Amino acid sequence: MNSQTVLVTGGAGYIGSHACVELLQAGFNVVVVDNLCNSKSEALARVQQITGKTLQFYQADIRDPLALANIFEQEAIDTVIHFAGLKAVGESCQQPLRYYENNVYGSMVLIEAMQQANVKQLVFSSSATVYGEPPSVQYVEHFPLSPINPYGRTKAMIEDMLRDVSAADQLVKPENPWKIALLRYFNPIGAHASGLIGEDPNGIPNNLMPYVSQVAIGKLAQLSVFGDDYPTPDGTGIRDYIHVVDLVKGHIKAITALQSDKFAAGGCQAYNLGAGKGYSVLDMVKAFERVTGQTINYKIAPRRAGDLAEFFADPSLALQELDWQVEKTLDDMVADTWAWQTKNPQGYQ
Ligand code: NAD
Ligand code: WQD
Repeated sequence: MNSQTVLVTGGAGYIGSHACVELLQAGFNVVVVDNLCNSKSEALARVQQITGKTLQFYQADIRDPLALANIFEQEAIDTVIHFAGLKAVGESCQQPLRYYENNVYGSMVLIEAMQQANVKQLVFSSSATVYGEPPSVQYVEHFPLSPINPYGRTKAMIEDMLRDVSAADQLVKPENPWKIALLRYFNPIGAHASGLIGEDPNGIPNNLMPYVSQVAIGKLAQLSVFGDDYPTPDGTGIRDYIHVVDLVKGHIKAITALQSDKFAAGGCQAYNLGAGKGYSVLDMVKAFERVTGQTINYKIAPRRAGDLAEFFADPSLALQELDWQVEKTLDDMVADTWAWQTKNPQGYQ
């Protein structure tokens, strides 16, 4: 049995709640810190319902150094998985300072609290957004980073900060180095197979899958397909969709890797977490119709500003170094999204 304790920042959120389930099921003790700015504590009640195990919840803000110091004092934390952050691209363009303050400054406070508590194993939620428009549509970790919106820039800045912190300690404290995995997610969708936890967006969803499932259940009238004139086989945008449960399993594999010989001397390494293949918007609509038997009312609309035609992951480094790859299918992603949507038509409310 694993007796390690993981602090999950943002653990009440969409991906964080799924991570808590997998961590508890793998035998980790779980401590969550979340200010509930984009989530509900009900998600954590459901996590405990699914697993039959308890976790420790601190409702606090990662920008509060005293609250973090208290958590590190109360709990014997071995590793931190850092999900807490704001994530809406459009909102980040309208309120950039709020994003820099919450994501970048919040991460600084967390890193400082970890240094103080001498907890130096970290798994960080980064994003494929950090790549911007690289030389090929299949993204490889060594590509230069050139994010094209404030949200993406917060992720790239946090990555830079973590690389710098890690490099500094490798020089001055080689006996006690940082061990950091930067996980660059592609497009997480789906939900836990129980249908008890899932993505619960506030208001009208920005992302494709929550939008499609709200059209299917009748909460929204029609999907706008943003552009059908991209240079892709059916003209609609192509993305690398990844089941959220596969995604969070990658975090557990990352913890194992951080504790292996590969990271014995410390380090900070980025890994793509994606399937390595893409589906178009219309592929997703058709899969949703086929798996659920629902008809999705959609229309072709103009392109959405800032969207790229196509990108997907080269996930080979994660396979090689983390022993991780996706296991779930497109049908699993759709069926699990639909189970969550139908069991919880109003989300957690
Ligand atoms: P989410 O909004 O559902 O979860 C984030 C959680 O962090 C929420 O529960 C929120 O209340 C909490 N939080 C935010 N700021 C906080 C703060 N200052 N202090 C304490 N808690 C705070 O988002 P998610 O989809 O679960 O994403 C988790 C992480 O993964 C984020 O960092 C996001 O940027 C990253 N990511 C998400 C996606 C995606 O498509 N969902 C893709 C790539 C990367
Ligand atoms: C997917 C495809 C749209 C909605 C975003 C963030 C990214 C990451 C994941 C955090 C695109 C099309 C969408 C709709 C549509 N998040 N679409 N109609 O834009 O790839 O990535 O979420 O890190 O940073 O930018 O995901 O789900 O919004 O869009 O046609 O109503 O669906 O144009 O081709 P995206 P998405």
